Amino acid sequence: MNIMRILAIETSCDETGIAIIESSGGLRNPKFKIIQGLISSQIKIHRPFGGVVPNLAKREHLKNLPILFKKLGSSARILNSIDLIAVTVGPGLEPALWTGINFAQEITKKDKKRLIGVNHMEGHLYSFLLPKKKTNISKSQNIEISKYSFPAIALIVSGGHTILLKMDSLIKWKRIGETRDDAAGEAFDKVARILDLPYPGGPEIEKLARVGNPSAVTFPRPMIHDKNYDFSFSGLKTAVLYYMRDHKDANKADLAASFQQAAVDVLVAKTIRAAREYNAQSIFISGGVASNKFLRKTLKKETQKIGCTFFAPDFKYNQDNAAMIAAAGYMTHLRKKKYPLRANGGLEI
Ligand code: KG4
Ligand code: ZN
Repeated sequence: MNIMRILAIETSCDETGIAIIESSGGLRNPKFKIIQGLISSQIKIHRPFGGVVPNLAKREHLKNLPILFKKLGSSARILNSIDLIAVTVGPGLEPALWTGINFAQEITKKDKKRLIGVNHMEGHLYSFLLPKKKTNISKSQNIEISKYSFPAIALIVSGGHTILLKMDSLIKWKRIGETRDDAAGEAFDKVARILDLPYPGGPEIEKLARVGNPSAVTFPRPMIHDKNYDFSFSGLKTAVLYYMRDHKDANKADLAASFQQAAVDVLVAKTIRAAREYNAQSIFISGGVASNKFLRKTLKKETQKIGCTFFAPDFKYNQDNAAMIAAAGYMTHLRKKKYPLRANGGLEI
């Protein structure tokens, strides 16, 4: 088996990530083994500002990259053992992306052949292929993890994007829907701010929603019945804002639960409708918002109802990380796709 050892660097937003993985199996049956996966989160730095401050992110990446790289061990030994260095080139915050690109160029010196640019969204897309923590049951009963098949629908939900892809294979897809305004994660973050919850808002809303009544307020489900697969979350966020303004003593847990229910209803309805229309065999979910257990549970249930198989990454690979960039680096390399080695904040999938 041809094994490729890949070092990856991720600095598109507020997590500095460095990982080493071993990849094999080729484009049809890629397999990944995590050798090292390091993340340094900047959440505490950005929290007082209620969101990510690009220049602070850049400063922190500059500080953290050499520290994480050193943790991998002797740089000479690491670089000798690596076949490919993968670095995120976009989408993301350009000052932040540049820190990763410059660092990757510095450590590879003149060895340009080994350096490859990676699309951050392809990283999220492939994150379900990264190894899963085995439960005791599956270890002892040796349960076969089911294999994905195509066509498939992929829902990528992060802080910056909400995208639906129709996939014919792991390397052939078409974007069939996206958000027309706020991304799903952005809506969670903004509603959290309205409810006076700290950044990042997604996990806080989820926590509060657990003790709230999801039917307390009927918020709009924007575009849920539209024929296309696009999303819109800005009106939903504004509806929460107006509700708070007009009901000063509203129960915040009820609002969090009602908002989460509305957002999940739309995400699930559109994904399932796309799966039906395209006769999908599998549904993949990824991105930071895929950490939301209510969304995962609801989508999984509806996926199974229509006879599809549901695939989601291990929880630690939903948020930005470098292991998923290494996996996407492997696929990008095998596809012979070349992204220019410069920051591209608006890079599309
Ligand atoms: O993928 P990600 O780490 O970064 C981007 O590429 O944007 O996603 C971050 C987003 C944030 O908006 C955060 O609030 C959201 O994912 N998020 C969640 C949850 N955990 C993180 N949203 C809803 N529920 C969660 N449990
Ligand atoms: Zn991301």
